[in-house]
Amino acid sequence: MTLNILFAANETRWAQYEPHLRHWLAEAGIEAQLAPDLGPPSEIDYIVYAPSSDVQDFRPYRRLKAVLNLWAGVEDVVGNPTLQVPLARMVDNGLTEGMVEWVVGHVLRYHLDIDHALANQSGKWLPKVPPLARNRPVTVLGLGALGSACAQALAALNFPVTGWSRSAKSVAGVSCLSGPEGLEQALARAQILVLLLPLTPGTENLLNAPHLDQVPEGCCILNPGRGPLIDDTALLEALDSGHVGHATLDVFRTEPLPAEHPYWSHPRVTVTPHIASETRAETASKVIVDNIERGEQGLPFLHVVDRQRGY
Ligand SMILES: NC(=O)c1ccc[n+]([C@@H]2O[C@H](COP(=O)([O-])OP(=O)(O)OC[C@H]3O[C@@H](n4cnc5c(N)ncnc54)[C@H](OP(=O)(O)O)[C@@H]3O)[C@@H](O)[C@H]2O)c1
Repeated sequence: MTLNILFAANETRWAQYEPHLRHWLAEAGIEAQLAPDLGPPSEIDYIVYAPSSDVQDFRPYRRLKAVLNLWAGVEDVVGNPTLQVPLARMVDNGLTEGMVEWVVGHVLRYHLDIDHALANQSGKWLPKVPPLARNRPVTVLGLGALGSACAQALAALNFPVTGWSRSAKSVAGVSCLSGPEGLEQALARAQILVLLLPLTPGTENLLNAPHLDQVPEGCCILNPGRGPLIDDTALLEALDSGHVGHATLDVFRTEPLPAEHPYWSHPRVTVTPHIASETRAETASKVIVDNIERGEQGLPFLHVVDRQRGY
């Protein structure tokens, strides 16, 4: 049987993904029609999906077996009441590697105070020796596919790493905490704090004024998770007072971040334009095709989103 696979994402993504998806479909021996404009909806078997696509009402897709999200974050689709089939989020080695590189790079920037070196090239000999990583506690909020990989990479560099998640976890080399008391301890230890939580009603504004008060003086914050995890007003106040030493923010409530937003000009903020980690077409296409293959074999889909939890 020939499957109908709708690619519901923009043209740029189609150009990136088409060759890889076709390659992996052929490798898997799956006969499929794959296109961004396939119809009618009632004959579509799978949708490879970007939540920003035109497909917002899934009801006409009566034969649909699964929606395969291109991104790890699903906050823009998880609450769609017309979606009644499994929704798989993206878990991809390329995505994970990219996030590990971004997080480790920015943690090392803070740890080594690379900014100090860059700002002191004026001929003055001003030695400033950083502590060893073993003396720089780092906390990672969120111990999922991305958070646990980042936590382990940091632990491998000798940082004492604390991780925090909703349910109790065990990650080699990482001190794992969960629940509200766990959060208090995790924040209190964080000389560097990394946010890798999904955006759900339970995580929105998690980093608010009371929680910011709990981090040590001078704590540096990295947010490659989602913008609304942070109460922006509270963070700006904590930055202004110096309680938070610096923040590197990759994600925002409004993207692109408006040109007049105070983050752009704040001396203690570095903005990166949602580039911490990109889903990589080459590796992600294999994940998508593996899931289609599983669906056709009657196996459970991988990385299925729990619609109740919201991630
Ligand atoms: N900036 C970028 O370029 C970029 C790229 C990719 C992804 N992201 C973001 O990164 C996020 C994380 O991705 P992922 O693949 O690691 O997600 P994931 O595998 O679903 O992991 C989510 C983690 O967050 C924890 N969590 C969820 N709700 C919580 C709560 N209320 N309290 C405490 N912990 C909670 C989960 O706890 P349990 O382990 O107990 O379930 C889990 O450890 C994505 O949702 C996306 O927003 C950003």
